[in-house]
Amino acid sequence: MRRPIVAGNWKMHGSQALNRALLGELEGQVKPEWPIDVVVFPPFVYLTDTVRTLEEGHILVGAQDVCAESGGAFTGQVSASMLKDVGCTFVIVGHSERRRWYHEDDSLVARKFAAAVSGGLRPVLCVGETLEEREANMTEAVVGRQVDAVIALHGISGFAEAVLAYEPVWAIGTGRTASPEQVQAVHAFLRHRISAHDAKIAAHLRILYGGSVKAGNAAELFAMPDVDGGLVGGASLSADEFRQICAAAAVRH
Ligand code: 13P
Repeated sequence: MRRPIVAGNWKMHGSQALNRALLGELEGQVKPEWPIDVVVFPPFVYLTDTVRTLEEGHILVGAQDVCAESGGAFTGQVSASMLKDVGCTFVIVGHSERRRWYHEDDSLVARKFAAAVSGGLRPVLCVGETLEEREANMTEAVVGRQVDAVIALHGISGFAEAVLAYEPVWAIGTGRTASPEQVQAVHAFLRHRISAHDAKIAAHLRILYGGSVKAGNAAELFAMPDVDGGLVGGASLSADEFRQICAAAAVRH
């Protein structure tokens, strides 16, 4: 059975004091015996402090982005090996906010995915359609294209280490969650798409849902057979909400 993941993407929020308070609460409330992986994704500048605060603990740390290059004269960028060096396990690639505000296209996202895998990190590849694309019945075409770009560059093997996250753009930060049935349909489609390349990798691949996941809707989303946890934005900034979401994932199996 696939072990669920609950991932907290803090986005550009927090401070040293706020983070330590949040992590202190989380460490007490998210039980190590729960059969789930819990990962927090702070901004770059707080990664080292977060790793130190969580040292010896059961909560893992990831970064929100990575450079596609492995090193060199790229001012302002952070490489996969640097993230690994400071204790990251995961890294998000292709988040819709990066695709939208920083114009990251499928080919750059694919290069970031490849850089993450070669640097020893587990990429969390985000895919998802806009509202216009959903209304034009293009959801499968869009998420299929986003996944195919990674497979075309890197092959299917990287998905053995990766996590996929379906985040419909219209559900992010809007309070408008996709229905469990809508989510299940896309997750099943994505698993099938991967399965066409490698059935074993597809069967083991964890596919997370992201987009206004909260304590109040987590259980019904995680009850879907192809939903293996959540990528949580706003609700991951509240220890109590995040704990309840983790608890919902822990009872799933
Ligand atoms: P919200 O949970 O705030 O909608 O954000 C989802 C997200 O983008 C996580 O990466």
